[in-house]
Amino acid sequence: MNTTTRTTHTGLPEDWFLRPAVARINTFLTGGSDHYKADRQLASRLLRSAPWLKDMVTINQRHRPHAVTVLARELGITQFLDLGCGLPSRWNRALERHEPALTYEAAVGVHAASRVVYVDNDPMVFALTRFLLGETATAALRADIRQIDELLNHYEIHSTLDPSHPIAVLAHDLLPWVDDEAAAAAMTALREWLPSGSAISITHASTDMEPQAMDSLVDHYAEAGITYRPRQLKQIRSLLGSWTPLPPGLVPTAQWRSGSIRCLPSAEHSHAYAAVITCP
Ligand SMILES: C[S@@+](CC[C@H](N)C(=O)[O-])C[C@H]1O[C@@H](n2cnc3c(N)ncnc32)[C@H](O)[C@@H]1O
Repeated sequence: MNTTTRTTHTGLPEDWFLRPAVARINTFLTGGSDHYKADRQLASRLLRSAPWLKDMVTINQRHRPHAVTVLARELGITQFLDLGCGLPSRWNRALERHEPALTYEAAVGVHAASRVVYVDNDPMVFALTRFLLGETATAALRADIRQIDELLNHYEIHSTLDPSHPIAVLAHDLLPWVDDEAAAAAMTALREWLPSGSAISITHASTDMEPQAMDSLVDHYAEAGITYRPRQLKQIRSLLGSWTPLPPGLVPTAQWRSGSIRCLPSAEHSHAYAAVITCP
């Protein structure tokens, strides 16, 4: 039997656009345009099991610029590594930036000299992110957190980020897409690699609020060949390790210092926890 994966002239597997992808489903759920039939079909099944899913994704996306602003203002961080960055959010003509703001847009809003490396294992995310860059202070990398050592040794990271200064890692809605071993290994490697004064901002889907609906989402994704592993609070806490969380700790995403975010969907629709941990 020939087990070689056939690829198209784009270099993508032949069935690439026939299989749903997490990044495109997220875009569909938040009203973006970069999605295909397979994404919409799976999204409809997900929404039937979890009608609050659009709110969950919206809360998570809007947390990004909020967390970046806190990291930049409060910890003075100017370097960001956005892991599992996802497809860019929609362009807002009036604001002249994406909405919610991309990591770089939020970071330069505080420190003009900020630098960002965007990382995702999805080739479409990589291509679109690289196309949008246009800034020497940003870089895009196609890499997988399941090969975290290889990822952290990549040229794009070393040529963009200065390891003698603090770096903030964003791992927003990323770890639920890998198994327990890979999630723990990635967090351990990041804590070892990051210089003093650094931080990790995490958001993580949880089974705590509506276990049955979450189980259905896990099943729908599994039928599409996608690993989804929302976790309980104690499992997420153990991924954080011994670093110190900034107040208010590990809480539902919409409750993480959300006072300044306007018109956020109801906090009970977070279905995820958020925390920022800092290097002691
Ligand atoms: C749910 S989206 C989250 C996007 C963005 N971080 C956010 O919070 O809105 C998850 C992203 O992680 C990416 N991803 C999933 N597994 C990954 C892996 N093993 N390595 C790198 N990226 C991964 C997906 O392609 C997708 O873009």
